[in-house]
Amino acid sequence: MKLEIAVLSGDGIGPEVTAQAIKALEAIMHRFDHTFTFKEALVGAIAIDKTGNPLPDETLELCANMDAVLFGAIGDPKYDNNPSASIRPEQGLLRLRKELGLYANIRPVKAYETLLDKSPLKREIIEGTDISIYRELTGGIYFGKKHLNEAGTVASDLCEYSQEEIERISHLAFKAAQKRRKKLTLVDKANVLESSRLWRKVVTEIAKDYKDINVDFLFVDNAAMQMILNPSQFDVILTENMFGDIISDEASVIGGSIGLLASASVGDTCCMFEPIHGSYPQATGKGIANPIAAILSAAMLLEHFDLMDEAQAIKDGVEKALELNITTPDLNNSNPLTTEKVGDFIYDYILNPEDSNMNFENIHVGQSTII
Ligand code: IPM
Ligand code: MG
Repeated sequence: MKLEIAVLSGDGIGPEVTAQAIKALEAIMHRFDHTFTFKEALVGAIAIDKTGNPLPDETLELCANMDAVLFGAIGDPKYDNNPSASIRPEQGLLRLRKELGLYANIRPVKAYETLLDKSPLKREIIEGTDISIYRELTGGIYFGKKHLNEAGTVASDLCEYSQEEIERISHLAFKAAQKRRKKLTLVDKANVLESSRLWRKVVTEIAKDYKDINVDFLFVDNAAMQMILNPSQFDVILTENMFGDIISDEASVIGGSIGLLASASVGDTCCMFEPIHGSYPQATGKGIANPIAAILSAAMLLEHFDLMDEAQAIKDGVEKALELNITTPDLNNSNPLTTEKVGDFIYDYILNPEDSNMNFENIHVGQSTII
């Protein structure tokens, strides 16, 4: 298959982790004989520094014309600490999502067997957890009308949803549940919010078309608690934009590190793949950022194009790295490896998965030559 991929590596650790995702895709290209081409473009704080715009027109145009977008991370402390900045890196990402029509953000959360003891949550609580979060991405409070009075003393953000916006992501979430354990939980705040009541009404209506799916409803405060008490009860979680943002960061604790969580953002015509973590500016250039979320985002890209064996090859490489503890300091404080070494290992493993000799670990991280 030929795929043209726009690469928006962005700020902070974005470029380091995205480079590892590209490497994994290159390994797939060699092993399975595909042609992937990569074209880079600016986004985020680096784009503001170079062009004054967090999403330059060329970047948007490139993304709209490629088959997929691989995204790194955006954000810079100089904006986070300045609430009055009118141009901010995040605007680049939000506008990109909106302009490309990426209304569904899919965030898989899994407790890896080999990492069960690395999570701050107890093994018996997280064991068996396998959740797919469907977060609405182009509506709600993120995109509603914003207001600040002239004195700068009163502010508001409108949370608005239309029936159609709820319907299109709900269908995707129900279809995903059909291929999984056939359970869907709508997370909302319908005891307080009008917009949540509309979500409940629309989802209840749609559920009639998916009789095989067991649907339940959970208020977001309770959902936040259940995520820590008993996460394996969840299969597909469907929720609006901001609840999804919060719940997915919370859920990342289950896996042992936010550096493991990948995501796919899809719409009717475009698709983008990004780790859920941010730009982690303190780690920039130190080689300590976990590249696995970015690498798994590349696997999600392949799945999107129905390249299931190829995606599995990446996931196998990741699982092997975790099993052998070929990981960055967030998961490994005794003998941590660099971002690049973890990427190298996964690259090699994709190309030579059968090469499992005793010295495998050393050979694949380039620390030994031969046994
Ligand atoms: C995410 C991030 C973004 C969001 C930020 C960077 C705007 O937290 O993708 O989860 O809030 O959507
Ligand atoms: Mg977030």
